[in-house]
Amino acid sequence: LTDMESDLRPTLFDFHGVSMTKYFTENWENVQNFQARPDDILIATYPKAGTTWISYILDLLYFEQKSERETIVPIYERVPFLEISIPSQPKGKDLADKLTTSPRLIKTHFPVQFVPKSFWEQKSRMICVMRNAKDLAVSYFHFNRMNHVQPEAGDWMVFGSWYDHVNGWWEKKSTYSNLLVLFYEDLVEDPGRELDKLCHFLGLSPSSEKKERILSSAHFDNMKQNKMANYSTLPVMDQKVSPFMRKGKVGDWKNHFTVAQSEVFDEDYERKMKNSSVKFRDEI
Ligand code: A3P
Repeated sequence: LTDMESDLRPTLFDFHGVSMTKYFTENWENVQNFQARPDDILIATYPKAGTTWISYILDLLYFEQKSERETIVPIYERVPFLEISIPSQPKGKDLADKLTTSPRLIKTHFPVQFVPKSFWEQKSRMICVMRNAKDLAVSYFHFNRMNHVQPEAGDWMVFGSWYDHVNGWWEKKSTYSNLLVLFYEDLVEDPGRELDKLCHFLGLSPSSEKKERILSSAHFDNMKQNKMANYSTLPVMDQKVSPFMRKGKVGDWKNHFTVAQSEVFDEDYERKMKNSSVKFRDEI
């Protein structure tokens, strides 16, 4: 970590209208030139919306039987983070290039306009998970506290406005049919139903035994204990400050927002979302 100390807590800057840190822009040219394939699956989320959860479910759906993968390969290597470029760690784009699996599972937090063009040209499938703004803000706040390659909690958010991000991806649905949008709240409410939706989109029909196994392995309590899923192997995260698998709940914002803060938030939310057709639930 010492070599990296000067690189910790990077500053946010405006990058084509989106607040970003250098860790997600420094490899920009290479990332933009990424060669997607028709069978690639791009997991596209705003940070803290359930990226790791859906990544793990997808990984189990396709590669469950490969036991070494389950026991020694952390989720962030199985599902590379395309735009990440952090000193002394492999770049996400290079990890993605090295994947030998089919399909390749690749993750991005980019707003829709930053997605490399070959994904659209190749008509790759994309899965977007969205999460209500209040729970997401709470989750992001705690994540910024524990992850030293993120700006201090309280700053603007890396990957820009949540509003722009969800609306951008939501609107894409009407012109790009290979895009599935799932909601974190739906996944918590009825994971079996959402897994069926996912399988339908992917054209998969796993046995009910396999689905049960996946739902059990991808349950919050099991992922929290699983070193290959809980990010405990990444030194830049201090899980004593706040665990990566923190609570996994809908409505935790109520423990963090005062009634007055919630009202201010709602008012601003209404204004920003008044032209949007995407609807979120902040309790279930
Ligand atoms: P909390 O901080 O609210 O607990 P991401 O993977 O996009 O960074 O999102 C992380 C959030 O998803 C965290 O939210 C984490 O606990 C939650 N999460 C991860 N796996 C989960 C699971 N299996 N069930 C429910 N929530 C999960």
